[in-house]
Order: sequence, then C-alpha cells, then structure tokens
Amino acid sequence: MVKFGIIGAGRMGNTHASYLGTFDGAKIAAVYDPKPEAAQAMHDKYGAEICAGPEEVAAAADCVVVSSPTYCHQDGIRAAIGAGKVLFCEKPLCRDFTLADEMLQLGRNYSKLFAIGFVRRHMFKTIKFKELLEQNFLGKLHFCNVDLPLGAYKRMPGDWFTDFDKSGGVIIDMLAHHVDLANWFFGPAARVYAQSDMLDPSQPLPADHVASVVTYKNGVICNYMCNWQRFGRSAERMEIYGEKGALVMDGGANLTYYPSGGEKKEIQVGPVKADGAGVEEVNVADGYGCQMLNLFQYMKGGKKVFPTVEDGYNSLMVGKAMIESARTGNVVQM
Ligand SMILES: NC(=O)c1ccc[n+]([C@@H]2O[C@H](COP(=O)([O-])OP(=O)(O)OC[C@H]3O[C@@H](n4cnc5c(N)ncnc54)[C@H](O)[C@@H]3O)[C@@H](O)[C@H]2O)c1
Repeated sequence: MVKFGIIGAGRMGNTHASYLGTFDGAKIAAVYDPKPEAAQAMHDKYGAEICAGPEEVAAAADCVVVSSPTYCHQDGIRAAIGAGKVLFCEKPLCRDFTLADEMLQLGRNYSKLFAIGFVRRHMFKTIKFKELLEQNFLGKLHFCNVDLPLGAYKRMPGDWFTDFDKSGGVIIDMLAHHVDLANWFFGPAARVYAQSDMLDPSQPLPADHVASVVTYKNGVICNYMCNWQRFGRSAERMEIYGEKGALVMDGGANLTYYPSGGEKKEIQVGPVKADGAGVEEVNVADGYGCQMLNLFQYMKGGKKVFPTVEDGYNSLMVGKAMIESARTGNVVQM
C-alpha cells in the first residue's frame, strides 16, 4: 500500500485525492489543513488521519503532496525533505524568490524525487508536441505565441489568489505552466520584457493581465498574453512557428499542423497507454489524472517522468524577470 499525505485540502488537494483515492494499492493516509472542515472532509471521504502540521503528514506518508497556497509551499517542502519522503509540490515552486533559492538547494541535495505539478507535461498532446519538436518536425524554430485569457475570473478581495504578494497574479500563478513548457521546448530564456497590472489593488474588483515578450537563447521569440478577467474569452493556445510550418496546441485533445505551403492537418494524439499500464483507469485527456497515475506508478518502481525542482525554479525565474521588467519598464537580461 502506497501512503500519500496531503498538505492543503482545497481545490487541488481534492483534485489529486480524487485520483489517488481510486488507485488500487494507494491510500490517502494523512492530511493537514488549518481549516478544520477541509481536513475533516478528507478524513470522511478517504479515511485520512487528520494531522496537526506538515511534519506529522510527512511522518505518516510515503509520498507528500503539497497543495497548500503558493506562499505556504516551503513549509510542506521542508517537512517532506526533512522526513526523507518523495515529494510532489504544486506549481509554482513558491512565492518568495529568496526562498526559491533555498528550495532549489534543498532539492539539488535531495536524493529522492522532488516533483513539481506542471500538469501539462503529463498530457499526451504536450508529450507529442515535445516529441515532434525533438524530431525537428518544424525545422528551425522562429516564433511562439501563448494566448491564455481567462474571462470567468470570480475571485474576490480576501481570497489569497487576489493578493499579488501571495499568489504572484497571472505571471507567477497561471502563466507558470506555459513558461515551463517554453523552457522545456526552447531551453533557457535570454531577455524578458513585460507589462502587467500585477493585480493592481486600485481596480474595482480583482483582475490581472500580462503582456510579455521573451527571447530564448536558441533565438525563438515568444509572445505571452495571459489574463484573469470578469468578461471576454477563455482560451488556451500555444503555437510555434518554424521554417517548415506551424504547430498548434489548444484546449482540445489533438494538435493542429499548418505546413508551409500546404493544407492544415489535424495530428491525432492518443489515447496512449502509459508505461506500466493503468491509463484506462483515468480519462486520458485529463492531465491531472495522468499526473497522479504517473506519481503512483513511480512510487511502485515505475520510471521517473516528472518536471523537477529545477524546472520549477527556472519557470519562477522567468516570472520574476517579468515582474522586474513590469516594475521598471526595462528589458531584463537573464
Ligand atoms: N496545477 C494546476 O493546474 C493548479 C491549478 C490550481 C492551483 N494550483 C496550485 O495549487 C496550490 C493550491 O491551490 P488551490 O486552488 O487548491 O487553493 P485553495 O485555496 O483552493 O486550497 C488551499 C488549501 O490550503 C489550505 N491552507 C491554507 N494555509 C495552509 C497552510 N499553511 N498549510 C497547509 N494548508 C493550508 C487552505 O485552507 C485550503 O484548504 C497553489 O499553489 C496553486 O497555485 C495548481
């Protein structure tokens, strides 16, 4: 029986538990949440022992899942590493940039898995996208466009997500995923320019927006648009232009290819059976399910397919540069 411990039983803690709790041979053994009703609900549903803090969870689990608010991640990380347990921490790595250096050092000196919850890396379409880029499918890469508007933002003042110092707004919270994908696809960033509301508290209701251009060391120029708005479109699109055509990944299950001088084509993706089987247990289009299935299989001796603390740190450093650029109006050299 693989014992999982959940630190932070809110939206993501419950999402992860909803998969882990269904795998044969997995158990939600322990939970900590300072909100007693949140911990109680996880106890009632999965039989998890209610703990008094992150250290107690780490002591009771084989694998610690940190899904507390971003500004609290470091407590769960320190507890899991202190107890020598496998660690899965939600993205972003943490909110405080000085603490990020400490988390990176902890992770680098740690012999066990310290995974970061970049869920998109577990989606079959993203894995296919990466494979195609590695096979030089697009030839030399030139340009990338990330379009990530959320028009249904409903968070109200008082919610930690609306406090820039706690969540980091769209730059650190939502865009972290696509910044990570760009790091994965293109390698390190060279220059960052951004303008952003950074959850400007003078707005009548919380909203956020970032427009950024990042140039990567491999020469790719990437345009990012991401917002939290109370009206307008909600969408997710990442498109990469190379010398042989353009490849697009959006909210659907498949990829779209626009060959240079040819007709648009859909590239079918999956269902793909993951190593060690079991994918039929979850909806294969659902990255969260695949992510937890991969974690469970890893705990049972499967292969490591996770973005690590370095990836979390590298994504955060691009976000940090976006904030610095938005605050100063300068281009930040990485
Ligand atoms: N990977 C993704 O797609 C994705 C999506 C949403 C959120 N997230 C990330 O997951 C994390 C949690 O987000 P959420 O939407 O579940 O937030 P949430 O507010 O719904 O849940 C957070 C829970 O943590 C509890 N909590 C508060 N302080 C705590 C502490 N010190 N220790 C432990 N628990 C504490 C809260 O009571 C709450 O139940 C954040 O870092 C967020 O950025 C990731």
